[in-house]
Amino acid sequence: MLTVKTARNKRIVRRIIRRKVKRITLFMRGINPEDYDVVKADFNEISELDEPKWNHNNCYFNQLMKLVPDSAETCLDIGCGKGELSFMLSRKVKKVTAVDIADKMIEKAKVLHPNQNIEYICGNILDMEFENNSLDVIITTATAHHLPYEWLLNFAKAVSSLY
Ligand SMILES: C[S@@+](CC[C@H](N)C(=O)[O-])C[C@H]1O[C@@H](n2cnc3c(N)ncnc32)[C@H](O)[C@@H]1O
Repeated sequence: MLTVKTARNKRIVRRIIRRKVKRITLFMRGINPEDYDVVKADFNEISELDEPKWNHNNCYFNQLMKLVPDSAETCLDIGCGKGELSFMLSRKVKKVTAVDIADKMIEKAKVLHPNQNIEYICGNILDMEFENNSLDVIITTATAHHLPYEWLLNFAKAVSSLY
């Protein structure tokens, strides 16, 4: 028998799949913009899903943390989701800026993974400005595929001072 939670999860997933099919159809017709309204809507829904503690993203977080140099003081987490990695980072560096386009993700992050030295910001990273060399580390997990590759490389080169 389906639990209420599972039935709710299924409804959410069905809505997300319908939007994905629409996007694939557009892609096949040669129309392929990353529609950030859709990305936002998808991830706002995904934020409501009941998740197991382990997932295919957070299983890499401990390894990623080992790559953050001890000298790093400032870190940007692009597409921070519910802030699990941002929180881990906040225990190692002085200041974490955690950005996500989905307002519900940011709401959840603030509740689930708060820390005084984390600034959670809701917005599209492509619309944000950071001063050159203003961040020691830029980290992004399971999000880079939503961003233009060239933009990401140029952004990382300009803004990050260490990694
Ligand atoms: C698959 S989730 C990964 C969340 C988290 N980093 C993790 O590994 O669990 C991708 C996240 O990127 C966010 N995202 C996608 N495009 C974005 C953009 N242009 N600016 C900011 N956040 C974005 C989504 O809202 C979503 O929360």
